[in-house]
Amino acid sequence: MDIIRVKGGHRLHGSVQVAGAKNSALKLMAATLLAPGATTLTNVPNISDVHVMGKVLKYMGASIDVIDEHTLLIDTSAVSMWEAPYELVAQMRASTAVMGPLLGRFGKAKIAMPGGCNLGARKIDMHILGLEALGVHFDTDHGYIYADAAEGLVGTDVSLEFASVGATENLIMAAVRAQGCTTIDNAAREPEIVDLACMLNKMGAKIEGAGTPVIKIEGVAELHPVEHQVVGDRIEAGTFVVAGALMAGAEGIEVTGFNPLHLDMVIKRFASMGIECERIAGGIHVRPVEHIKPIDIQTLPFPGFPTDMQPQAMLVSALADGNSIITENIFENRFMFASELVRMGADIHIEGHHAMIHGVRSLSGAQVVSPDLRGGAALVLAGLCAEGTTEVSAIHHIARGYERFVEKLVALGAQVAYVTVPDPNFD
Ligand code: UD1
Repeated sequence: MDIIRVKGGHRLHGSVQVAGAKNSALKLMAATLLAPGATTLTNVPNISDVHVMGKVLKYMGASIDVIDEHTLLIDTSAVSMWEAPYELVAQMRASTAVMGPLLGRFGKAKIAMPGGCNLGARKIDMHILGLEALGVHFDTDHGYIYADAAEGLVGTDVSLEFASVGATENLIMAAVRAQGCTTIDNAAREPEIVDLACMLNKMGAKIEGAGTPVIKIEGVAELHPVEHQVVGDRIEAGTFVVAGALMAGAEGIEVTGFNPLHLDMVIKRFASMGIECERIAGGIHVRPVEHIKPIDIQTLPFPGFPTDMQPQAMLVSALADGNSIITENIFENRFMFASELVRMGADIHIEGHHAMIHGVRSLSGAQVVSPDLRGGAALVLAGLCAEGTTEVSAIHHIARGYERFVEKLVALGAQVAYVTVPDPNFD
């Protein structure tokens, strides 16, 4: 059983480069299904979620050549199956991103129902309602969703009840092959959606308005393979910004490989906590914060404060001089991180989707369990600034979305290591 062991109190220095965005790479990989032939993706993060998406595509008949650690050549010419099996969807809910492309290419998809996950129920009703409007008929049987557009996809106007990232992406990937025009109103505006639209347009799609609440898509008869670079990971960047703010030496650290505009709201809110970020070429320079001011943050769809930065922000507020409030509007069950941080000495009370955080002077190292991807990373950061040693278990969550997280922290001067410990259940 591997854990991450962190010795607190070591100052960070130097520079760290973030990988390509997980949330973009997964959808771009799914989108290669729309363009029979070999698409090259560069700047692909080497993380376990990408490996799962690779298995989903191979299961359907695609071949994937790993050109180098971050470059994949994905050939979808031989794809002859339109099924995402339970074994893989259960490992990664984002496998449902193949539904839109499969409908776009074959007019059919069979997808295991994702069920709940550790961030709550995470329904896909908006994906289904939107695709139904495009002419897809849905059935469910034995835990699978059967989607069929026997009479072809027909462009239409879809208004999303909530700016869902996944629903927007699935709709775009189906609508690019529909007959006529589709308009998605109240579309999600995340940079990863802009990245997806950008690659699809290179493939020959006609998408306008990605990055705004209204996306217009004119269906085309075919798409062709291209080469595309995955956008830098703004959430990984934000995670290292927090590491720097809490533990950098006097010179601060540099975080590069991403577009700081994608982290604009985070940088603004962090500035109001006293964290100084300065733009540099390809990233930002963050200085250590001396006096953390409390904050009132609520998570919202982009360009609001991202839910994927909520645990990291909670860690900073746990060390603030005063009382903070964090409101989680996107996911239920996203405060599990808080109870682990309390084990390290934080003072946090949860009421519904609000967390009331009373800042403490310091945290103390403890054994904690990674509750999910971002919460796990935030616990490692908590260990960096805690007194003594912190041991984070269930680190497979972190490997889902952070490439070489421990190695990058070590390169910055942190005392962090993977350690294999006996599993107490099997001794
Ligand atoms: C994506 C990201 C995730 C991020 C989230 C919000 C990926 C792989 N994951 O997740 O990291 O935290 O966006 O920025 O890109 N909902 C419904 N019905 C639906 C669809 C969504 O009720 O049909 C609800 C979900 O349960 C959730 C909320 O809407 O509570 C947001 O979901 P959504 O924006 O779709 O997030 P994901 O695409 O799942």
